Amino acid sequence: MAYLCIQLIFFFFLFLFPISALSQKNGIVPEGSTLTAGEKSASPWLSPSGDFAFGFQQVQDKDLFLFSIWYHKIPDKTVVWFVNSTNPVLRGSTVKLDAQTGLVLRDPRGIQLWSANVGSNQLVHGFMNDTGNFVLQGSDGSPLWESFRHPADTILPYQDLETGDSLRSRQSATNFSPGRFYLRFLDDGNLVLATRSAPTNVDDEAEYYNSSTSDSTDALNSGYQVTFDGRGDMYIRKRNDQRTPLNPVSIPLPPVSENYHRATIDFDGVFAHYYHPRTSTGNPNWTMLWSIPDNICTNIRGEKGSGACGFNSVCHLELRRPVCACPEGYVLLDTNDKYGSCKPNSSLVCDEVEEGSAENLYDFVVASDIDWPLSDFEQINPSNETICGEACLQDCFCAVAIFRDNSCWKKKLPLSNGRVDTSLQSKAFIKYRKRDAPPVLQTFPPVLAGSKPKNRGTVILVGSVLLGSSFLVFVATACLGFYFIYYKKKVITHPNTGALNTNLRYFAYKELAEATNEFNEELGRGSFGTVYKGDLQIRSKNTTVAVKKLYRMDQEADKEFRAEVETIGQTNHKNLVGLLGFCDEGQHRLLVYEYMSHGTLARLLLNNPKTSWSIRTQIAIGIARGLVYLHEECSTQIIHCDIKPQNILLDEYFNARISDFGLAKLLMINQSRSITGNIRGTKGYVAPEWFRSTQVNSKVDVYSFGVLLLEIISCRKCVEDIEIGHAEFFILTDWAWDCFQEGRLDAFVENDLEALNDMMVLERFVMVGIWCIQENSSLRPTMRKVSLMLEGIAEVTVPPCPYPFSTTG
Ligand SMILES: *[C@@H]1O[C@H](CO)[C@@H](O)[C@H](O)[C@H]1NC(C)=O
Ligand SMILES: *[C@@H]1O[C@H](CO)[C@@H](O)[C@H](O)[C@H]1NC(C)=O
Ligand SMILES: *[C@@H]1O[C@H](CO)[C@@H](O)[C@H](O)[C@H]1NC(C)=O
Ligand SMILES: *[C@@H]1O[C@H](CO)[C@@H](O)[C@H](O)[C@H]1NC(C)=O
Ligand SMILES: *[C@@H]1O[C@H](CO)[C@@H](O)[C@H](O)[C@H]1NC(C)=O
Ligand SMILES: *[C@@H]1O[C@H](CO)[C@@H](O)[C@H](O)[C@H]1NC(C)=O
Repeated sequence: MAYLCIQLIFFFFLFLFPISALSQKNGIVPEGSTLTAGEKSASPWLSPSGDFAFGFQQVQDKDLFLFSIWYHKIPDKTVVWFVNSTNPVLRGSTVKLDAQTGLVLRDPRGIQLWSANVGSNQLVHGFMNDTGNFVLQGSDGSPLWESFRHPADTILPYQDLETGDSLRSRQSATNFSPGRFYLRFLDDGNLVLATRSAPTNVDDEAEYYNSSTSDSTDALNSGYQVTFDGRGDMYIRKRNDQRTPLNPVSIPLPPVSENYHRATIDFDGVFAHYYHPRTSTGNPNWTMLWSIPDNICTNIRGEKGSGACGFNSVCHLELRRPVCACPEGYVLLDTNDKYGSCKPNSSLVCDEVEEGSAENLYDFVVASDIDWPLSDFEQINPSNETICGEACLQDCFCAVAIFRDNSCWKKKLPLSNGRVDTSLQSKAFIKYRKRDAPPVLQTFPPVLAGSKPKNRGTVILVGSVLLGSSFLVFVATACLGFYFIYYKKKVITHPNTGALNTNLRYFAYKELAEATNEFNEELGRGSFGTVYKGDLQIRSKNTTVAVKKLYRMDQEADKEFRAEVETIGQTNHKNLVGLLGFCDEGQHRLLVYEYMSHGTLARLLLNNPKTSWSIRTQIAIGIARGLVYLHEECSTQIIHCDIKPQNILLDEYFNARISDFGLAKLLMINQSRSITGNIRGTKGYVAPEWFRSTQVNSKVDVYSFGVLLLEIISCRKCVEDIEIGHAEFFILTDWAWDCFQEGRLDAFVENDLEALNDMMVLERFVMVGIWCIQENSSLRPTMRKVSLMLEGIAEVTVPPCPYPFSTTG
């Protein structure tokens, strides 16, 4: 019976759909071919190499199909071309290649949805090129229609944009309808990234990028083509043969022989060049090579539109992409659209003002370093914070007041172009109605679904500044700026010493003894003290913390304890372990830190098999960023002096977090003074100048980082005893140099295939490591340079031998 059924089905297909039996080979799609969405037997039309496929791709978890071209060999089947007006289509929709009508897409009822017209020409066949271009070829072999000439949101190598062409973003990662952003090559020769409002399709006058390649006085000096060449270089060609590069020239191009390249205007408005290894052994994801604009949150010209995020939203940048969040007291209009507008969670209306004084009705939340540069309706100058806050409270039109540079700007709804900008040094007073539930204190930006929570250091503000009411206050740190935390204000008034001007919470010794169950569970011991696990009520939430009990320090440092703790407390960076509070009662000196669930890097490097190369490279980049911050970006420079794998912790997402920073100074060393002998750093990681009586500066951390980087690359310890028969030391830095010099990086990483498949990055990392361990500290790059080099933004030159002074090497 079953056999009969199969036979019947077989005949059914053979006679009713003879056309689908037309074979498609070598990229050629014969005239008359059809594809039906959802039909299992119909394989898509493949390019000769099989790299690209054209047809219907099923939408994840849905019975819908995307009429598109995609990378066929990589797991996520990234779509590079699609019809943006009708996608996705229903099961049973068809596409047919017809000699007269061209390529026609029909819904299951046979109604035409879209077509690629060939006019009065006769098409002979279709061709799916290995470049990703689908071509309808005429009888003389000329292309009658090409998908490359009708781009959606992506451009590929060998594809050009002529004047008038544009890419249009999709609405969201999974919604292929036209979105808000476009990249257009204008007739005047400028390449422009701008927005257009979706329903009306009218160009907004908000521009995010402009190549400025138009010359009104000299037409020959104007752009006429955007070229993405076969090497992956992208540039604007001018008629006088000059080229304006779009990719930063300092970034080396991953070879196209080993990588796919594409450039896409993503739904969030960022136009980015990505690459992806062709083989399945490399990083399975697309990696961003470069992108424009530099900062979509702030690079806006024009007055209209909401900005990269919706109205009343606040934009900040993470890994060059915008992340949007509603400010305190505001909620998403459409909870499914994180990039959409926010609405006030409480009504701000003028009718009610008579009912009571404004102070009784309204209150506000204070936020640092966020601004909505437009939407002003009044400016008060000069002003101060008190006046500014009160002015907004008293004015029923005012939704937010921004205080900056002794000026106060009152703003009305809707607020547009909201962004985090630490350079502003501004305060925002965000009004809410008391009668409504007060704004929920939460991290800012709020933890968005799918993004990582940002519970970094803590910051508390003195809350009595304004109007004497109990304000819910939050502060953004002035340093790097993305990461925020809210904290209910508690003014620190320690009875003995008075208020400490810091953002930290003061703990009584008894409180910490209880929290750690009398210092019961030891997490580790370091140069400065022993760390215990504890549980504390923080923001009325049970929070696991790490309590560091410092060893007795000398008299001199004791006096500086608070000053140093304050310096540490002011730091806030995603690659640092946040300090939550401290205790300095009697003889006791304790520091309370965030608890890091994945332990130390030292432990991670011991893993067998090795922790994945991509995680290790991210960790290295994270540590470098943390050090850049300590060296350059916080108000007081902090030299760590003891960078080693034991001092790098990993949070639940395997982000690297530097710990123990600021303690070197606290415990014994006046960092600016020359020191001899008394080495605080750890064997193997200590820069040579520690042993000389020379001044110590931030380059000591660069040295230690170099050693650490080589450890991360090789998963070997910096010094190992090899006591098999002969007592000898293995010195990692020497080994690194030998391997590098002899071109034997395979030996250096042993059989780490993932690293070897990522040879460009591997080589770059090793070279950066060798630059960092230069004996001559002036040759070592700064941590900023290191960070740029690791990220592939700055070029890495071939390093010299690290030991010019030594006889051995
Ligand atoms: C995408 O939409 C734009 C108009 O919004 C249109 O000009 C372009 O041809 C469309 N592209 C495709 C591949 O459908
Ligand atoms: C495929 O594209 C490449 C690059 O544009 C081109 O040189 C080649 O002729 C195309 N192949 C066919 C058969 O059209
Ligand atoms: C781009 O910049 C040029 C000046 O460099 C300006 O003339 C042009 O209007 C700008 N294009 C748009 C769309 O704003
Ligand atoms: C690749 O991307 C996916 C989804 O974005 C993510 O879950 C995964 O961790 C990434 N893998 C690597 C190695 O980066
Ligand atoms: C702000 O200015 C007002 C009036 O000039 C003054 O009374 C008040 O003390 C000032 N407040 C602060 C915090 O400087
Ligand atoms: C918004 O208001 C409602 C009720 O007034 C409250 O339950 C909710 O927590 C508020 N949400 C935020 C984000 O403030």
